[in-house]
Amino acid sequence: MKRDLITIEDLSSKEISDILKLAHKLKKKPLSKKKALKNKTMALLFQKPSNRTRISFEVAMVHLGGYVLYLSPREIKMGEREPVKDVARVVSRYVDGIVARVYSHQDVAGLAKYSDVPVINGLSDLAHPCQALSDIFTVKEKMKTLKNVTISYVGDGNNVLNSLLMVCAKTGVNIRVATPVGYRPSGEILEKAEKIANETGASIDVFNDPHEAVKGSDIVYTDVWISMGQEEEREKRLLDFSSYQVNEQLMRSSKDAFIMHCLPAHRGEEITDVIDGKNSIVYDQAENRMHVQKAILLRMLAK
Ligand code: CP
Ligand code: NVA
Repeated sequence: MKRDLITIEDLSSKEISDILKLAHKLKKKPLSKKKALKNKTMALLFQKPSNRTRISFEVAMVHLGGYVLYLSPREIKMGEREPVKDVARVVSRYVDGIVARVYSHQDVAGLAKYSDVPVINGLSDLAHPCQALSDIFTVKEKMKTLKNVTISYVGDGNNVLNSLLMVCAKTGVNIRVATPVGYRPSGEILEKAEKIANETGASIDVFNDPHEAVKGSDIVYTDVWISMGQEEEREKRLLDFSSYQVNEQLMRSSKDAFIMHCLPAHRGEEITDVIDGKNSIVYDQAENRMHVQKAILLRMLAK
């Protein structure tokens, strides 16, 4: 049966660990599986712009011997020119896999439901599972272990945080979250993550005060305050998040933690030029998208 990757919950802890191991091997030898996906074709169906997700998937596919079709928002007009289920049924007759970047999570879930080939979520309003997998790979690479590691996330309780919470819970990594009231992850997501964390021994703590949250953390993670599709809320969000900036003062509370950001970064908003400093690991984090996605593609598309 085909497997999709729509949220981190689609993977067991063991499967995540296997992906991390395979990605580690592929990072050391990027072309070691250069025929594994020979004659395989993947459609990248994107409703929003992308640098990292698009390029890393395209290059990963090429390194594995496969072929990619990039379909920008102008081409398919999913849900507008034709319904999601028709897009899914038709595109899956042409290709071996689909990576979709959508506004509404329902669209990527619908693609998976009606497609005969594996569907990978390349970001929806609810989740960014490929980002979270490469984030946890980066954490392991830098900390040398995932045991007794604590990440703090400061900012918006958005798609990136939802998937990060889940991957931390599944891999036993502690997470301390600081968001303004009104911008927390949903109760449902927190409950799900807490239930998994209870099994793996991870802790999840939610704070209002970012200084409190980053205390004792090994890593401080942030993402934009205004995600794609939220541009109309810009003025309100800039005000609501103004004391949640990752800057030198906040980093002093965390005592030399690494800095992570999924990018794109908006310097002067959620982060200052600490992103260019010695503790920043954001460019390794961005590079790792490619290595981890190769491992994901091999698991989902290779025979
Ligand atoms: N982090 C990430 O998904 O970047 P892009 O939006 O550029 O793909
Ligand atoms: N939260 C951001 C992540 C971009 C990679 C957004 O959805 O725009």
